[in-house]
Amino acid sequence: MGKMEDPDGVGEVGNPVCGDMMVIYIKVKEKDGVEVIDDISFQTFGCAAAIATSSMITELAKGKTLEDTLKITRQDVANALEGLPPIKMHCSNLAADGLHEAIKNYRKKKQNK
Ligand code: FES
Repeated sequence: MGKMEDPDGVGEVGNPVCGDMMVIYIKVKEKDGVEVIDDISFQTFGCAAAIATSSMITELAKGKTLEDTLKITRQDVANALEGLPPIKMHCSNLAADGLHEAIKNYRKKKQNK
């Protein structure tokens, strides 16, 4: 948890339902010729469910390849937490979307290098 110094990618998302916000930071490294999430952290300005899902997504993503990480869905995050009440489902969107944004940001930065 917390801001990352010098991240390779940053994903910032806002939740239109409640106005909460989340920032996901990633560090990427190459391992056996594939890019993997070497480190990940988050800052969440939101409810307890948003914090729980951010924390869960860091566990789900760490060490995974970028391709596998992009396959993590909102539902996976909710499932990993053994379900969220329906009213809180939108909170899990932030974590998955933020992570996907961070990877997009990383790829864009890399392209521009
Ligand atoms: Fe806003 Fe949960 S109520 S993220």
